[in-house]
Amino acid sequence: MQIKIQQRLLLAILTAATLAVLSMYLIMNWNLGRGFLQYVNSIENEKLATALIQAYTEKGGWDFLQDDPATWPRSLTRIMPGGKFDARLLLLDENLDPIFGNIGEKKGERPAPLTHQGKVVSYLLYHPRQEISEVHQLRFLRRQEVAMLLIAGVTLLLSVLFSLFVSRRLVRPIKALTEGTHRLAGGDYTTRVTVAANDELGQLAINFNALALVLENNEKAHRQWVADISHELRTPLAVLRGEIEALEDGIREPSPETIHSLHAEVLHLARLIDDLYQLSLYDVGALTYRKEHLELSSLLSQVVASFRAKFATAGISVTAPAPGAMAIVFADRERLRQLFANLLDNSLKYTDWGGRLEICLAVDAKQVRIAFNDSGPDVPSEELAKIFARFYRVDGSRSRQSGGAGLGLAICRSIIEAHEGTIAARPSPLGGLQVTVDLPLTGVTP
Ligand SMILES: Nc1ncnc2c1ncn2[C@@H]1O[C@H](COP(=O)(O)OP(=O)(O)OP(=O)(O)O)[C@@H](O)[C@H]1O
Ligand SMILES: [Mg+2]
Repeated sequence: MQIKIQQRLLLAILTAATLAVLSMYLIMNWNLGRGFLQYVNSIENEKLATALIQAYTEKGGWDFLQDDPATWPRSLTRIMPGGKFDARLLLLDENLDPIFGNIGEKKGERPAPLTHQGKVVSYLLYHPRQEISEVHQLRFLRRQEVAMLLIAGVTLLLSVLFSLFVSRRLVRPIKALTEGTHRLAGGDYTTRVTVAANDELGQLAINFNALALVLENNEKAHRQWVADISHELRTPLAVLRGEIEALEDGIREPSPETIHSLHAEVLHLARLIDDLYQLSLYDVGALTYRKEHLELSSLLSQVVASFRAKFATAGISVTAPAPGAMAIVFADRERLRQLFANLLDNSLKYTDWGGRLEICLAVDAKQVRIAFNDSGPDVPSEELAKIFARFYRVDGSRSRQSGGAGLGLAICRSIIEAHEGTIAARPSPLGGLQVTVDLPLTGVTP
């Protein structure tokens, strides 16, 4: 493909150069012939006028012209080869009456005055030559034409060399990009091309490199995601396997407690798989949302109410807004329930005994903000941005003890993004974590 482009470029540059050189050669050739003829005529005219005046002075008038042309002064016959004066020459006296010759005036021609001692003694009308006939003049013209032909040839040769150089230079980055694209399509995402120029091709190379980087990062993230999933699934499976093997070997009795523990592990595994499935659906854009106009404060109250007993057991006091704030949003009820449940579950798991959770709801013209503030422990500020990443746990061992896989907040973020809202984490004034959720209001009554 690149060879074709190079050939086409070469052909285009060469055609343009050949046309330019050829037309310049023809114009200059024509101009040279014309200019040289004009020059020869003007010199001849001048010489003739000088010779006539000289003859007039020598002979004391024009009477000699009536005689045989053989008696004409030599200087004149040299200028007019063959002595054919009457064919191209007309001499008129001071009153413009013909003295010699019988040619007529052509259009645009005016007889030129001949002066002797400051006085006009006659007028000369002289038809210029139509072509060069003198051998030495013709030779001069030929030499000029040959020189021009040589110059044209050298110019053409130079333009061939130049176009070869230019076409190669232009095609080189295209060739590199084509090869790079092939490698990229073959799965080699580490491929980069060198940005050689600051033009459109250079910009294309920059964009190509940016695309390759995105693909490389995506590939890395994908591998990491698969590795993390395998790792997370392995832990509960290993626990299950250990317990079942202990039962088989008779190390443990199949008591109701053992069965309960096995069941709890299976539930944990099932929840993990559900979460992963939901996130993968979100990734491929296949998660369906059944959105409706709903009132957010009453939904929040319902979810909080379902958690009250658990908070009481954990010794955490909860304050939540009373329903009726009329915060109407266009959302999927079940997904928002899941969002609140994930956040409440976190506060429950990561707040020390005797702590507090305060939930505030604020409505303005465009959006509703719900803030979950709990007491310690807190999340170090450098980790705040990371807690929404998949499988991220601030303190791995503590979170794993509490059964967390590090997917809850990632799911919250995907739910919020699907509702065109935002979610953020900051240090809470109560000493723990503050999570704020902003959702756009619809202004519609459900
Ligand atoms: N209210 C909170 N107070 C202190 N730390 C928190 C709080 N909420 C979350 N975190 C920290 O952020 C991490 C990520 O939370 P996330 O909900 O995504 O995962 P998880 O709770 O560990 O697991 P999962 O929610 O999947 O069961 C948690 O492991 C925890 O360390
Ligand atoms: Mg969680």
